[in-house]
Amino acid sequence: MSVSHLARNIKDSPTLVFNAKARQLKEQGKPVIHLGSGEPKTKTPQDAIKSCTETLQTAEIHYTSTEGIPSLLEAITSYTEEHYDKLVNSENILVSSGGAKHAIFNLMMAIIDPKDEVIILAPYWVSYTEIVKMVYGIPVIVTPANNQFEPRFEEIVASVTSSTKAIMVNSPNNPSGCIYSEQLIGELVEYCEKNDIYLVMDDIYHQLYFDNTKPVSVYKYSQKDIDKSTIVVINGISKAYAMTGFRIGWAIANREVTQAMRNVSAQNTSCPSVVLQSAAVGALNGDQSGVEKLRLTLEKNKNIMMKELNNFHDIKITEPHGTFYCLPDFSAYNKSSSELAKFLLEKALVVTVPGGEFGFEGHLRLSYCGSETDIKEGIARIKWALDIKSNDEIIIGNNKMKRNWK
Ligand SMILES: Cc1ncc(COP(=O)(O)O)c(C=O)c1O
Repeated sequence: MSVSHLARNIKDSPTLVFNAKARQLKEQGKPVIHLGSGEPKTKTPQDAIKSCTETLQTAEIHYTSTEGIPSLLEAITSYTEEHYDKLVNSENILVSSGGAKHAIFNLMMAIIDPKDEVIILAPYWVSYTEIVKMVYGIPVIVTPANNQFEPRFEEIVASVTSSTKAIMVNSPNNPSGCIYSEQLIGELVEYCEKNDIYLVMDDIYHQLYFDNTKPVSVYKYSQKDIDKSTIVVINGISKAYAMTGFRIGWAIANREVTQAMRNVSAQNTSCPSVVLQSAAVGALNGDQSGVEKLRLTLEKNKNIMMKELNNFHDIKITEPHGTFYCLPDFSAYNKSSSELAKFLLEKALVVTVPGGEFGFEGHLRLSYCGSETDIKEGIARIKWALDIKSNDEIIIGNNKMKRNWK
């Protein structure tokens, strides 16, 4: 028996490996701190709960149309008008039942032929390369010079070939928290629309920005009618509404691509659950104060994280402007980020995610969507484990630990 060549080439999720080890340690009663998390722990908005409860109470839970229920398509249209200053039609939208990730998958199935290239900007979200491989495309990674998190336009264009089908942009960016400059987005829109290359904006974190650095709407620079444009926007309710478990996302594209995505979706998951879509309608149409509250909490947590990290002499930090991640350069301690992450989990009981998985070796992704206490204690433990000039003793849980390594 064997599995397919394709399946053999899909990487294990790096976070799952570390999460499994952390769970094991927790089960043994160890006081593990999680700085690897990819989701805010706030509760589901009440309007979402109310809306999906009402749907459930109708006891009419049947198949829906592939593209999404009309009330959600309407809610997404209003959302796009409000947040992007762009009028789109319901024929430009496809709702997905597996979150924003599934929206990206549907899109790639709809636009990529074998050996088509997709440009991905490092540091990048781990799933992009794997999704591109799953549709037999070729991920082409552009890594900015000098360890910067934002590549220059010229660096991206230098990687374009006659096989380039799409450029993936994620801003605010997982894992760096960087928001790409308005100039870069403007240049990419102009270039992609002119050269018939899809510009895929993964905007899943676009409401989670700090210090008044609101990301620009990609449509601001579009010169074309939406049905002639190569811009595709991916979004969902997972991050800003803390609704990761509802798995509702969407893609907005020209009608031709949307129809192709609908055909793809109709033959895999089809019919996103009406219960979960109703929750999304409640979240998008309801009270938005929870999003702002989350944004402000994350901004505060980011400031705490920056303050704690500034106590290190040997790491390089670029301050994030959005998401709930940062990606400090720890290469002065260990050039292998996976070795370092393993070491920190074993010695300091802190979960981090190796930067190598995001195409940025020597870095660690640290999340600040947990509690203030966890951020402070997590960073104190990392400092104790790595910085031999710091005090060699620390209390972890109920135990006094002594550093006995160099
Ligand atoms: C950049 C990026 N895009 C998409 C997703 C997927 O979002 P969803 O949970 O809605 O599938 C994530 C989740 O971590 C992400 O970080």
